[in-house]
Amino acid sequence: MKTLVLANQKGGVGKSAVATLLCHYLARQGQRVLAIDLDHQGNLSKPLRMSGRPLVAPVTADMLLTGLVAALPSHPFVLVPSRPALIDLERQPALHNPFARNLRGFLRAMEGQFDLCVIDTNPNPDIRLISALASADFVLSPIQLNQEALDGVTALLNHERVGLRKIKAVLNPKLQLIGLLPTMVEPTPFQKQNFIQVIQLYRSLMIQVGQGIGEFASMPRRSAIAESQAHGEVLWEMKKTAARDAWKEIEPSLARIVATLQGGSPLKPGEASIAGVQPHATST
Ligand SMILES: Nc1ncnc2c1ncn2[C@@H]1O[C@H](COP(=O)(O)OP(=O)(O)O)[C@@H](O)[C@H]1O
Ligand SMILES: [Mg+2]
Repeated sequence: MKTLVLANQKGGVGKSAVATLLCHYLARQGQRVLAIDLDHQGNLSKPLRMSGRPLVAPVTADMLLTGLVAALPSHPFVLVPSRPALIDLERQPALHNPFARNLRGFLRAMEGQFDLCVIDTNPNPDIRLISALASADFVLSPIQLNQEALDGVTALLNHERVGLRKIKAVLNPKLQLIGLLPTMVEPTPFQKQNFIQVIQLYRSLMIQVGQGIGEFASMPRRSAIAESQAHGEVLWEMKKTAARDAWKEIEPSLARIVATLQGGSPLKPGEASIAGVQPHATST
């Protein structure tokens, strides 16, 4: 089982939407999928639950950290849902190390039962995010193309507690950054300018799709995506033409990400490299 964490300390950048799409996409491919929602806001749990596709486990994600779960029901697509109490875990610092160990032990125990585990996280840089990153194989970071979000990339890499550099060096050397995924991309001059800026600053962290220069994975802003999240519908099964068009735009990026998760072709000539980015790179 390979574990992917969706992470960015910014909220509202599309983490849960990407996590939801990935879970459905992997399940459609016949992969055995374990979805874990570590965000108390439950924006992965809600659409997955409403879709009726995964079996909702009779436990909640906080219990994976508190060590109360030894097994999950046998099913090819299982959701371990969020609950509001997830936010309380941070307030028990004496238990933080056990929390991280418990999640790691649980994921190890799931090795034979699932092919892929997708973990959605909260924006707070807390023990939930640390525990997930400390045990994952891959991390994918949706970003938005506004100045604030660009500054957030620096925090993503260099935050003293949850920065990927620190996590990789201290807690989890195997952690691989799949890359930055610009989401809710709009064809405005402002966004185009910011996209160019992201590429200039973080080229080694972008996900190359196809052979062409400048073909990087991204997701456009499409109302069908927000609707699929709100109503728990699977994007490519929605009746509207707009939804199917949105899916056509997105699929190459998701396919590239999934190929990396499955150990397919290398990410790109240079491979996403945290080391390749200046420690104090800023977007200003
Ligand atoms: N590509 C997109 N196009 C349009 N709306 C989107 C897109 N991605 C996400 N959204 C919507 O934007 C809001 C925030 O996205 P969400 O995935 O919940 O962000 P996060 O998990 O990072 O907080 C949600 O209402 C979601 O449905
Ligand atoms: Mg979310």
